[in-house]
Parts: sequence; structure tokens; C-alpha cells
Amino acid sequence: MTQTLPSAAVLGARAFAALDGLNRFTDEPGKLTRLYLSPAHRHAAEWTRGAMEVAGLAAHIDAAGSVQGRREGPVPGGPCVMIGSHIDTVKDGGRFDGNLGVVAGILVAQALRDAGVVLPFSLEVIAFGDEETVRFPTSFSTSAALVGRYDAGWFSARDADGVVLRDALVGFGGDPDGIPALARKPGSIKAYLEIHIEQGPVLEAQNEPVGIVTAINAQKRARVRITGEAGHAGTVPMALRKDALAAGAEMALALEAIAAAHENAVGTVGVFRPDPGATNVVPGALDFTIDFRAPRNDTLASMDTAIGERFAAIAARRGVGLTMTPYSHDQATPMAGALQDALAAGIARTGSNLSARRLPSGAGHDAMVMARLCPAAMLFVRNEKGISHSPLENMTEADAGIAIRVLLETVLELARQEG
Ligand code: HGY
Ligand code: MN
Ligand code: MN
Repeated sequence: MTQTLPSAAVLGARAFAALDGLNRFTDEPGKLTRLYLSPAHRHAAEWTRGAMEVAGLAAHIDAAGSVQGRREGPVPGGPCVMIGSHIDTVKDGGRFDGNLGVVAGILVAQALRDAGVVLPFSLEVIAFGDEETVRFPTSFSTSAALVGRYDAGWFSARDADGVVLRDALVGFGGDPDGIPALARKPGSIKAYLEIHIEQGPVLEAQNEPVGIVTAINAQKRARVRITGEAGHAGTVPMALRKDALAAGAEMALALEAIAAAHENAVGTVGVFRPDPGATNVVPGALDFTIDFRAPRNDTLASMDTAIGERFAAIAARRGVGLTMTPYSHDQATPMAGALQDALAAGIARTGSNLSARRLPSGAGHDAMVMARLCPAAMLFVRNEKGISHSPLENMTEADAGIAIRVLLETVLELARQEG
């Protein structure tokens, strides 16, 4: 006996129960830290594979560590609608960033199966594993593998402990040699849809549970190394110092000023590691990272130039060495207009009291990579005070349910459009 489609309230309850299961897996007990290819990522991937199978999807963990689930449509091997997000997290992250979008896809697949809905296309759900790129200096490597943009140089990338990505991937159970074959052909994915918490304050301020993403900001990241001269903190006169940390601190403030001077731009120094890092030693070296973003590519380019000039001037004045190694650069990415409209139709079918507000994304997402291969769109979900990349990240079960019901209605809208 087929079931009717579950209500938003039921979907919300199912989502929170599933997230409790998925978020047991962490590399830091008491915190949610699940870095790419870690033991917690492996356990979470296996949990996700099992949940996909329960939802009626044929599932496997692929060569790059993503979990792929698929239910065939009328044409086996035919084009699919793909729902995805990521199950890796930042350090001490939130329960919903990425994880919500994967659970949403699984619940949509399960609801359609239980209701006996036959779609005119195949349905896939994917759980990417390297969206945060916290562990290795890569750039959305698992979704990049799916769109044929994997950079073989990433295999030799090292994490903070010196572990090489290729070795970590083999240890995880992945297959570096199998990554090129992951690339999907153009036309094989009709649409990529991603639900994600907004990670910003707009929907809460507008008292809206969901919103449609119009575009994802451009972003660039680099590793920076300053080399000065280590010395005795008590004896080296200030005028003779080549203090690597002080130089880096001045550069961090310069980045902050440059970001503030560019429209709707942001700039962040998130990692800051002095060497040797001893109280009574003038730091001889410093490794730090920069992450800067803007809605427009030309604004990002202007920031990039300003950063290079200002950092070089600071290094020259202080007599320290400077090396900047960019490792991630993503263009500003508009979301597909037709899919935005399908999400708006899904919102309309979910609740007459909902409005299909549209807003940009300051955060990066796998959708910006998938958009290189196929039409991509995102649905943002309101989250408390917009707090994210923090254990304080929170949202309501009701909002999660509304978003997943919108996603369900959007898939049905795409099926109707197929005729
Ligand atoms: O950093 C970001 O924008 C995303 O959370 N990876
Ligand atoms: Mn995310
Ligand atoms: Mn994130």
C-alpha cells in the first residue's frame, strides 16, 4: 500500500532524528569535528550509505570518499536529478552545515519511494566529503572529481601533521587511480539541488523559513609564510628585530582594511602559526592563511592586487621573507534561473504563507562546483542568528521540515515539467 507524502512536520522530525545518528561521528569527542578522510568521516560515510539503502537507493562510497546513492528512472543509466551537500565539517563545527542537505536528500528519496512516485528521471543523492577543505589545501575536491576538475596536484597536498592526501585517501578506502572515472558526462545530471542553512542573518530578519539562492560569492584562499629571524625576547633590540609574527599581524590588519574598503567583501585570517611559538623567543617564522570573498569577480581581483602590494611593502619594510601560495580560487557563480523558479514553485506548493525570497550566498558550497557541469540551485534554511562554523549553530525542526517538503515539491515540479 503506497503512503501519502509526509508533511513538513514529519519530515522535520525525521531529519532531526537522522542528524542525531549522523552526528555521533566526530574526531573530537564533545565537539563536532569530522575532517575529510578521517576515521569519523569514514564512519559517517558508512552510516550515510546505510541510510541511503534504507531509503531505496543503490549506494556506494566512491573513489574520492563521497557517498553516492541512486534510484534508476525509466531509462536505466539515464539523466538524473541530484540532491547533495557535504558531511565533512570544520573543527568544532555545527550539526547542520552540510549534514542537513544530505539528510534532506535521503528523506526526499525515501518519501517518494514510500508514496510509490515514479519519476521520469533517475534520482541521486550525494554526500561530498571535502567541501570545507579544512584538512588539506584543496578546493571542493570531491565535487570537483564529479565534474572532471580534480587537480592531480592535490594528491601530494599535506595536512598540518604532514600526512599526504594520497596516503590518507588510500587509508580511508578510496582509490586515487579511480578518481578520473568519477567525472560525469555533460547532460548526465539534469539538475543539482542543495539545501543548506543560510549561515547568515537575512532569513531570520525577514521572518522567512526558506530562501532561494541567486548566486554564490567569488572566493580565494592562500597560504602565507613569513621568514624573519628568531631571537632572544630579552636581548634583541626592537630596532634590530625581524619579527615574523609582528609582520604577519600587520598583514592581517591590512587584509581586514582591504576587505572593509571593498563593497560587500570579506577577508579572514583563520590559521596563524608562529614558529617556534615560545614565550621568550622572537618568532623567526610564521605560517598563516588568508580567505577573501566578494560578490563580483572584478572586486575580488582588485582585492587580490591590493593584498599582494600591501603584504610585499610590509615585508620589505620589516626585512622579512614573504611567500604567498594560492590554493583555492572560485569564480562568483550564479544559480540556474529555471531551477530557482522550480524552487519557487516548490515553495508555493508547500505553503501559501511562504514567500520565495531570493538572496546571495557569502559562503561557498559544492553547488558552485556542480554549476560548472549542470544547472545548480540552492535552498537556504533560516538558522538561529545566522551562527555557523560554531557549536552554537542551530535551527528549528519546523524549518528543516518546511525546507525538505519544498525540496520534495521541487523534484515533483521538475517531473511535471518533464511531461
Ligand atoms: O567556507 C565556506 O564558505 C564553506 O563553509 N566551506
Ligand atoms: Mn557547508
Ligand atoms: Mn561550512
